[in-house]
Amino acid sequence: MKILNFGSCNVDNVYSVDHIVNAGETIATYKLELFPGGKGLNQSIAVARAGAEVYHAGCIGTDGDMLADILSDSGVDLTYLRKENIKNGHAIIQVDKTGENSIFLYKGSNYMITKDFVDEVLENFSSEDFLLLQNEINNVSYIIDAAYKKGIKIVLNPSPFNEEIQQIDLSKITYLILNQVEAKGFSGKETPEEFFAFAEKNYPDLKIILTLGKRGCIFCDKDSYFEHPSFMVETVDTTGAGDTFAGFFVSSVAEGKSYQEAIKIASAASALAVSKMGAATSIPYKKDALEALNYLKPYNYKKKDKLAKKREVIFKYIEENLENACLEDLSKALGYSESYTGTMVKRVTGEAFSQLLKKKRCMTAAELLGETDFSIGEIINKIGYENESFFRKIFKETYGKAPLEYRKLYRKN
Ligand code: RIB
Repeated sequence: MKILNFGSCNVDNVYSVDHIVNAGETIATYKLELFPGGKGLNQSIAVARAGAEVYHAGCIGTDGDMLADILSDSGVDLTYLRKENIKNGHAIIQVDKTGENSIFLYKGSNYMITKDFVDEVLENFSSEDFLLLQNEINNVSYIIDAAYKKGIKIVLNPSPFNEEIQQIDLSKITYLILNQVEAKGFSGKETPEEFFAFAEKNYPDLKIILTLGKRGCIFCDKDSYFEHPSFMVETVDTTGAGDTFAGFFVSSVAEGKSYQEAIKIASAASALAVSKMGAATSIPYKKDALEALNYLKPYNYKKKDKLAKKREVIFKYIEENLENACLEDLSKALGYSESYTGTMVKRVTGEAFSQLLKKKRCMTAAELLGETDFSIGEIINKIGYENESFFRKIFKETYGKAPLEYRKLYRKN
């Protein structure tokens, strides 16, 4: 039994931002980091790190060598990975301070999959094997038809969802791993219950894993139905968490584990993945996921909601009082002692109050430098710094450039 993953490989350009940019808005970013990614690559790495034999089929471009490197370092077989004379696919990803993301994709080399290439690869696989697929390469429906004819077990993660994937004949799929937006896209149904009823009627043999974000997931096929909670961790970056889940699930099922067990390990692995920055780089190894099952706790809504509310109050206070914000005032506003407030801020945001304030001030300064002609003096008045040399030092530490240098570069771009 082998696992073949026909999928994308992306260079992820990850920008850390205060909030996801709105239409018509320009914002400064805290930093840019490059990570290996792409749903295909992430899932292959997850399958391999979960311990199974996996072949990645797909195309990288002229700038994609680091992607081949991480695949092979993780133990993925690259016999069917081609290099094309074209720019690699890439993703532009914003990650906000709560760890949520927003992504747009450049297809590049990921759309160089020819039907001949598909046929050539599939010749080496049989009904013993699994085929894992997402929707970031071209010719997905051709791959499904060809694999189905050979009796290969197909695991589809229909993401990102679009009209093309909506046309797929789901009766050819063995396992469908999808989220609620995708479930609605296929069925037009709002709730999990309605979706499962739709699937049971139209695709009775389908095994479905419906992921519900922090609420965990539901497994449903004609023989069983069960829910599994997600595990509670501090969210740093959710990018690639779904891919980690899919890869670990497939690996465990291929190994012969029960669906319950496979979902438990996959949930632990994806919890570990969200607690780190980056997609592929945040995917854990099997031993770490198994070990985490000893200490991870199921997600607790009430506790998390309370923390989220406190975080919101702190950020709002800083935003509205940028010039004069101080811990003493915040503690008065909250009705706590100053020392308790300091500890609480650190606990719910992961950073000290002074650090948060510094970040927000620098970010506002960067916005004003880019978008207005205010002098440095005017800017430091607005953000609440009295000392210009201190501001220059802090700005350089945060953005790697002096304020006026930053303005020049920003305007040039
Ligand atoms: O699922 C996460 C992935 O989606 C990222 O790595 C990015 O490349 C996009 O394809």
